[in-house]
Amino acid sequence: MKPWIEAIHAYVPGRATGKGGQVLTKLSANENPLGCSDRALEALGQPTGPATYPDPDATALRAALGVIHGLAPERIVCGTGSDELLNLAAQAFAGTGPEGPDEVLFSRYSFAVYDIAARRCGAVPVEAQDADYGADVDALLAAVTERTRVLFLANPNNPTGSFLPRAEIERLHAGLPSDVLFVLDQAYAEYLGPDEDDGGFALAEAHDNVLVTRTFSKAYGLAGERIGWATGAPHLIDALNRIRGPFNVTGSGQRAALAALEDQEFIAETRAHNTRELARFTEAMQALGNHGVRPLPSKANFVLVLFEGALTAEAALEALADGGYAVRHLPGQGLPQALRITVGTALDMDAIAAIISAAAEEAQ
Ligand SMILES: Cc1ncc(COP(=O)(O)O)c(C=O)c1O
Repeated sequence: MKPWIEAIHAYVPGRATGKGGQVLTKLSANENPLGCSDRALEALGQPTGPATYPDPDATALRAALGVIHGLAPERIVCGTGSDELLNLAAQAFAGTGPEGPDEVLFSRYSFAVYDIAARRCGAVPVEAQDADYGADVDALLAAVTERTRVLFLANPNNPTGSFLPRAEIERLHAGLPSDVLFVLDQAYAEYLGPDEDDGGFALAEAHDNVLVTRTFSKAYGLAGERIGWATGAPHLIDALNRIRGPFNVTGSGQRAALAALEDQEFIAETRAHNTRELARFTEAMQALGNHGVRPLPSKANFVLVLFEGALTAEAALEALADGGYAVRHLPGQGLPQALRITVGTALDMDAIAAIISAAAEEAQ
């Protein structure tokens, strides 16, 4: 094994079972509790084509994405989830060479795949200091060196839920050398309100060094089909096309994504549900402030809850598992004191709030 591969800690997926193997309600992977559009389900049911390779270029899907988002289809590439595209972006623009490894920069408490994407191409992952768990533009810019090749930023960010407004994204881009690739990961963008656009598409349209990634795994509810996409300047799309899997999006995935795009009502419903339940759950956690329970403000479909009092994150995790719920504990990402809880149904969120509240009282 290459030494830089040996240094990788494999991605730990969200659990759906308890310690004893019992099946739990899974609120550990930021999936959509409403499922997906009926139209996507219908498209998945169509018994066409498993014996033949899918369209290698996802032509119809890229065209539909272009229409919905006002983008040129030539400036779009699809991937096996956005995970594939994040990895390819690092691989295409960073690595190691005779002068030593390049650097891939991201904020502390970012998406776990960035560290893996950096290491797997032989580059060095560099973490900039956060600002109370959110990305800090000044800290990121101060961490740029001559060796920095790629900057990853998730907006909203996983696992913290933090969000940088358009002016901050523009300031970050303006402060970067033009030969650093800025990968703006918008996996949770569909959860934002219409006035909360961080300007990523406009930035990717106007500059040669910006790649914006999106996914059908979150609000579209198609995580199991593995469909992501990215937009950017033609030379960036060309680079990813050279190294992606030739048939990286399955035929059923392409069909489901196309059908899902046609049902924007489902996305509006998903956003409304999330906004309502996110606010209710955040408020319920804020009410436990006297027990040292602190929810971070979130713009995504999950809340990172900090346990800074007598009730520890481990104890809360166990109480939730006993109550039938799997949520995400991330000690491997420097967050032993926190649980990331995906927004589920109203019933789920009431039950989780009640379990945490009871555990906090008991720990007192
Ligand atoms: C910030 C962020 N980016 C990208 C992804 C990858 O999603 P997918 O590969 O399913 O598109 C995730 C999934 O959790 C995420 O949280």
